[in-house]
Amino acid sequence: MSEQVLDNAQQLAPGEARCPNEPSTQDIIAKDRVTAPDWVRSESYRFLGDEDIPKGRYIDPEYAKKEYEKLWTRTWQFACREEHIPEVGDYYVYDLGRRSFIVTRVAENEVKAYYNSCLHRGTKLRPSGTEGCASEFTCPFHGWTWNLDGSLQKATCHWDFPHVEAEKFNLPEARVELLAGFVFINMDHDALPLEEYFGPEFMSHINSWGLENRYIHCHVAKRIPANWKLNMEAFMEAYHVIETHPQVAVSNADANSQYDFYGDHVDRFISPLGVISPHLRGQYTEQDILDQFTVGDSSVLAGADRKLAEGETARQRMADMLRDMFEKGTKADLSGVSDSELLDCFSYTIFPNTFMFPGISLPMVYRFRPDPEDHRKSFYEVFFMRPVPKDGERPEPAECVWLEDHQSFTEAEGMDPGFGNILDQDTENLLAQQQGLEATAKDGLTLGNYQEIRVRHFEQTIDKYMAD
Ligand code: FES
Repeated sequence: MSEQVLDNAQQLAPGEARCPNEPSTQDIIAKDRVTAPDWVRSESYRFLGDEDIPKGRYIDPEYAKKEYEKLWTRTWQFACREEHIPEVGDYYVYDLGRRSFIVTRVAENEVKAYYNSCLHRGTKLRPSGTEGCASEFTCPFHGWTWNLDGSLQKATCHWDFPHVEAEKFNLPEARVELLAGFVFINMDHDALPLEEYFGPEFMSHINSWGLENRYIHCHVAKRIPANWKLNMEAFMEAYHVIETHPQVAVSNADANSQYDFYGDHVDRFISPLGVISPHLRGQYTEQDILDQFTVGDSSVLAGADRKLAEGETARQRMADMLRDMFEKGTKADLSGVSDSELLDCFSYTIFPNTFMFPGISLPMVYRFRPDPEDHRKSFYEVFFMRPVPKDGERPEPAECVWLEDHQSFTEAEGMDPGFGNILDQDTENLLAQQQGLEATAKDGLTLGNYQEIRVRHFEQTIDKYMAD
């Protein structure tokens, strides 16, 4: 394949080359029996340059400090889900670096995010990592108290503070916007509204997913020994699949996955399932592809008929199997849901630190945050989302399970072992990459023009914030 790539690339303008002699993601989806919606059947790629990415941004503590000033203070971040704070008075503490916010529902349709710090002598009002319900926020040091709406209710011994004007002592707020069940906050009061920040194309995508009707049924977090950007970028391409996850390559497109970006703050890939990796072309039959297919709890598919009929493809049968499985599980009619939405991996980066996977077979959200104690470490969270049952109460969101640094993702309660193994494979590369970037004589990272465009797009947006 490599010689063909060179031949192909020599005849095309930079960025036009694609995995040669292979069906594209759109070719694969176009053959599906249940047609995919427009947000799936679109492409939005262009060449963004081929310069190396300077390594300093991953290894320099001064760069990390500037990110806190220039990037994290001006971007919309996923702080929690609305289901974390369903009732008035519910709150959820969201930390970013050394900043901390109390995200709380102050009225049925109003959520606020207060800086988590007393206006007397600065004590944190609620501990990091906590959530609960409150009618007021009282400082544990001297007892100053704020109402749920952020107004000062009490300054203990107020006779000693004639200089404190209550109306100037409201708890400072970050901006808050709600979208698809997510609570986003932004420290910048001049930032673009969330819809403009994401842009119309992505808004049309997310508004068709119904993520507000999902709930968190499993939430796992772990500290990873790599800068937060390396951590994120490990999940931005399918280029690594054949080397890092060879066990899934038999039934996953990788080199012919599709990459897109929309404005500065959103990009994605689509990686089709049920088709062989171009790296393995000719080595496996359609029956082989189907035989090794598992998803989630593989016992669910244990009784399924796995003998392909003449001319039938593994992808067709897998779509049928998943449709049947999810219809039984959700008691819903999925006959109109496209094969692609049932099968394929849709991975969207929401700048700066969130991934959304709106597909049906593995619906997830990832969140990444820098470790304020060490720019060479970061926090990685996985939220598995399930549809809210049609005939019952919305379940409580799962509590976060924090893994120790040495623990495997497979040890997390509720984690599918096969998927936990994939996350271990992804994150085990990261310490070596962090250390390698500190050891190298080379100045930067070299990226593929197409398969690694999300990394370049992400870094170019970071450049814009850092330069501003
Ligand atoms: Fe909060 Fe004194 S520091 S009341």
